[in-house]
Amino acid sequence: MGVWEVPPQENTVSDAHYDEIAERYEDVLFYDPDSPYHRWLVGRALAHLALSPSHRLADIGGGAGAFALELAAAAELREPVLVVEPSAGLSERAIEREGLVVEALDAEAFARQEGPRLDRILMKEVVHHLDPERLDVLYQGLYARLAPGGRLVTITRPLDPPYPLFAAAREVWRRNQPPAELFADAMGRAGFGLERHDERYPLEVERDTWLAMIGRRFWSTFSAFDDEALAAGIAELRAAHAAGPLRFDDHLIVLVAERL
Ligand SMILES: C[S@@+](CC[C@H](N)C(=O)[O-])C[C@H]1O[C@@H](n2cnc3c(N)ncnc32)[C@H](O)[C@@H]1O
Repeated sequence: MGVWEVPPQENTVSDAHYDEIAERYEDVLFYDPDSPYHRWLVGRALAHLALSPSHRLADIGGGAGAFALELAAAAELREPVLVVEPSAGLSERAIEREGLVVEALDAEAFARQEGPRLDRILMKEVVHHLDPERLDVLYQGLYARLAPGGRLVTITRPLDPPYPLFAAAREVWRRNQPPAELFADAMGRAGFGLERHDERYPLEVERDTWLAMIGRRFWSTFSAFDDEALAAGIAELRAAHAAGPLRFDDHLIVLVAERL
């Protein structure tokens, strides 16, 4: 891998964003546990994690724990999944769910902790929140927390995602989404063996549903805009897309890192 320039980071994402949306976090297109998209995603995560029932799994940035519970059920895990989640609102919701152990920590604090060795670690839609300057410390710590042969699976998105975003939101996305190679390089320096996979899923959503999701700031990208700027962005998209279904792919980048 080459040397990658890190785009300037603007921390539009904060605990406040996730605390604010904690109660309704799962009721949108990408997080609805009953959707075919979600079933596909669980299947792909299971395949990349190669989970078996005896594995100890941690889901870092695991939100309210719904995805962790689905993985646990599908893989028939014998031990509860450890959810590591710094947002107070989301970790409190995860604590209420049976079958999880919850640590209200951020990824680096968790990586630096001593603890029982894990077989699998998942970081799904989390790494764009991390401090790029701290990745070496993070991945060295996670390497140490894994048992030999253990896996760290990162699911993230590209710099130019295929979603209908208004121009200013696309800019914010680009500023906040480091290239996957930044993480891959840091994992390589920590000693991990690495594979990259690109997964795509064709999505269809009514334009007005998509616009309403943006209006609810369903992704932290939209928390960079005040109400007026968000309304202007939504108007831009309404003018650009006819009423009716919008079709676009979800594109996920999966980095499978193995402790050798
Ligand atoms: C887009 S959500 C993804 C949640 C969950 N992994 C999923 O895919 O449904 C991003 C999550 O990362 C968490 N997060 C943000 N910064 C973090 C950090 N430094 N360490 C660990 N988690 C973090 C947020 O609180 C939030 O739960």
